[in-house]
Amino acid sequence: MNVAAAREILLDSFGRVRDLTAGLTDGLSMEAATYRPDDQANTVAWLLWHLTRIQDDHVADLAGVDQAWGSWRERFGLPFDASATGYGQDSAEVAAVRVDPALLAGYHRDVHDLTVRYVEQLTDEELARVVDTRWDPPVTVSVRLVSMVNDAVQHLGQAAYVRGLAERRAPEPEPVEQAPVQHRFYGDLAPWWPLISAPDEYAEEAAFAATLLTQAEPATRTVLELGSGGGNNAFHLKSHFEMTLVDLSEDMLAVSRALNPDCEHLAGDMRTVRLGRQFDAVFVHDAIEYMTTESDLRLAVATAYEHCRPGGVAVLVPDHIAENWEPSTDHGGQDSRDGRSVRYLSWDNDPDPSDTTTTTEYAFLLRAPDGSVQVAHDSHRLGLFPRELWIRVLEETGFTARSVAEVTAEHRLPREFFLGTRP
Ligand SMILES: C[S@@+](CC[C@H](N)C(=O)[O-])C[C@H]1O[C@@H](n2cnc3c(N)ncnc32)[C@H](O)[C@@H]1O
Repeated sequence: MNVAAAREILLDSFGRVRDLTAGLTDGLSMEAATYRPDDQANTVAWLLWHLTRIQDDHVADLAGVDQAWGSWRERFGLPFDASATGYGQDSAEVAAVRVDPALLAGYHRDVHDLTVRYVEQLTDEELARVVDTRWDPPVTVSVRLVSMVNDAVQHLGQAAYVRGLAERRAPEPEPVEQAPVQHRFYGDLAPWWPLISAPDEYAEEAAFAATLLTQAEPATRTVLELGSGGGNNAFHLKSHFEMTLVDLSEDMLAVSRALNPDCEHLAGDMRTVRLGRQFDAVFVHDAIEYMTTESDLRLAVATAYEHCRPGGVAVLVPDHIAENWEPSTDHGGQDSRDGRSVRYLSWDNDPDPSDTTTTTEYAFLLRAPDGSVQVAHDSHRLGLFPRELWIRVLEETGFTARSVAEVTAEHRLPREFFLGTRP
């Protein structure tokens, strides 16, 4: 074969390597560039870098010129020495090649130019020159060039395959809301709620809440309560305001509907519910304690903000804040006229003081009208946050926030009411 034909075939072959590399880097996202089908697999970025490094190293060696890598190495910022071509690298080194695909494209263009300059001046003698005598027959320039094309094309095929896998991969599922925890208290035990926690016990606290809920400008008429439970607060508040009650539990909504048939009831999670309307005030009583992480608390406060009209207020009432929580026990229960009775013991403790939760264990003795008694245990994880965090979350959500100490005649520590005004 004459040398001109050999040059043409080589230029065509390297031109295809260039075109395939350009096509593979075009529109390549970092995510696809660094995707690994398994934890050992080569990435598109590594494959392209490696095939380009090999071509650069080998052509520069044949031509007796400097590699193009010299002007690219710093921009790539790889943690390898200057001579690294990827040959023999391990899985961690493959993972280290996290580079902008535009850099890979640019480097390959320079290497291709270097290759073309060399190939264009090939002679018969140069093609026949022996460059490696460790093989039998010894490796000539023409054999070296063909094996470079062969090597590059194999890596390009792998890179195209991995890019296809990366791009056809099912999108990462959206972070799923942690499913709300189901408590027996608010499930199968819900019909016993009025005997565990009676509406009368809420009168004083609801009256105090009302003094804050009225602080909207202009005056409050509509109130949304999130986590309204058995509706004991609403039972008192509804004489001041038009109440809309939202709770996660259908069983608790049923209890509340019986007590407050005149109020609107809706099922929803306070972290995600969107009613598409705004209220003069949003109230979240003790149910806010089921927000056990700062991110859940932020979601609930964002729900309050979304449903609060400008000039409206949000009132949030955790049973405790970090500053006033102590381990404790309590007991209670009542007898109802229908012959049912409940006695319970509750026990607040903090198994892990380093996290944002405490635990309340409940033991219930539930006596039916026929005298039969069942025992039930329910365990609740509750959020516990310092005052400063409550205020910060309210402010960062957009409220102007302050805390107000409750005034109470009950034999317990006054609660801290958090009041947010929507500007
Ligand atoms: C202690 S009860 C509330 C009692 C209420 N203060 C009353 O006046 O009867 C707590 C309520 O919070 C509800 N809850 C817990 N997590 C919730 C969530 N993510 N969204 C809405 N309600 C939730 C429970 O279903 C339960 O009814």
